[in-house]
Amino acid sequence: MTSPPKSRSLPYIGAYPARQAHTVGMKSLNMKVAIITGASVGIGSATARSFLEEGYAVFSLARRQCPVQGVTSLTCDLTSEDAINCAADILEKAVTDCTEVALLHNASQMRKDSADDCSSDSLSQVLSTNVIAINSLNQRLLPRLPKSSSVLYVGSTLSEKAVPGAFSYVVSKHAQLGMMRATCQDLMGSGIHTAMICPGFTDTEMLRTHLGNDPEIEAAVAGMNSFNRLIEPREIAELILWAHHHPVINGAVLHANLGQKES
Ligand SMILES: NC(=O)c1ccc[n+]([C@@H]2O[C@H](COP(=O)([O-])OP(=O)(O)OC[C@H]3O[C@@H](n4cnc5c(N)ncnc54)[C@H](OP(=O)(O)O)[C@@H]3O)[C@@H](O)[C@H]2O)c1
Repeated sequence: MTSPPKSRSLPYIGAYPARQAHTVGMKSLNMKVAIITGASVGIGSATARSFLEEGYAVFSLARRQCPVQGVTSLTCDLTSEDAINCAADILEKAVTDCTEVALLHNASQMRKDSADDCSSDSLSQVLSTNVIAINSLNQRLLPRLPKSSSVLYVGSTLSEKAVPGAFSYVVSKHAQLGMMRATCQDLMGSGIHTAMICPGFTDTEMLRTHLGNDPEIEAAVAGMNSFNRLIEPREIAELILWAHHHPVINGAVLHANLGQKES
């Protein structure tokens, strides 16, 4: 077996790397592409690895590089329309002539705030990453996706319920659910399917940032599901890959939380 190429970073340049092992001369054969926002860590990074292992050419859009060798990292701050447009210029070329695309809207930011303590400026910043960036990418890429593609959204348990102290996140996660449902209706008959994958407590940077590393808090959070543990990013990645391969779930919300206890 040959070892995969090293991870490549392409900050705002007008070219993209040679296609992986699918190119004969200038003509691409059976080229499968996965585009993942926020694949620098966590669920996105695990999903990038899963798609790569299945032979996809994988692109990550994040401020940091994806650590998975073989993934093309497009340095992109999703709060910047210019940065998204630069990445989209590259991605438009990458999806030309390919046979299927998995477009995964995974990146999100989470802040601690509340309905009575969240400035509109702060809400706007959260929405710009969690909602507007998704729309900007969709506007550029949806018209170019071939049949057999998917547009997948990583939501949250908080896409369908609220907890105290996560106002802007809850608002944005509900908005993402609306986007997924509208995507399903608006792409009717296109051969492209959509779904929302809603992870429960998953052991990532986002969770650690909010919980810290106190074993007691971790145990309490792990105890909120039927299996008394945190979810591994790889488990969510496998579900995302499955969702891409199964158009029968078009429009569905897939909760993946080990059975969360309701209080
Ligand atoms: N972990 C959980 O328990 C949990 C539970 C429910 C839902 N989720 C959802 O799962 C998804 C992935 O979260 P995760 O837990 O894997 O979080 P994570 O490890 O913190 O990763 C978040 C990703 O989003 C990217 N990102 C954030 N702001 C960005 C920006 N302005 N521009 C570009 N990229 C940005 C980060 O990349 P850079 O920092 O490199 O830019 C990073 O790759 C999110 O949608 C999250 O809401 C997670």
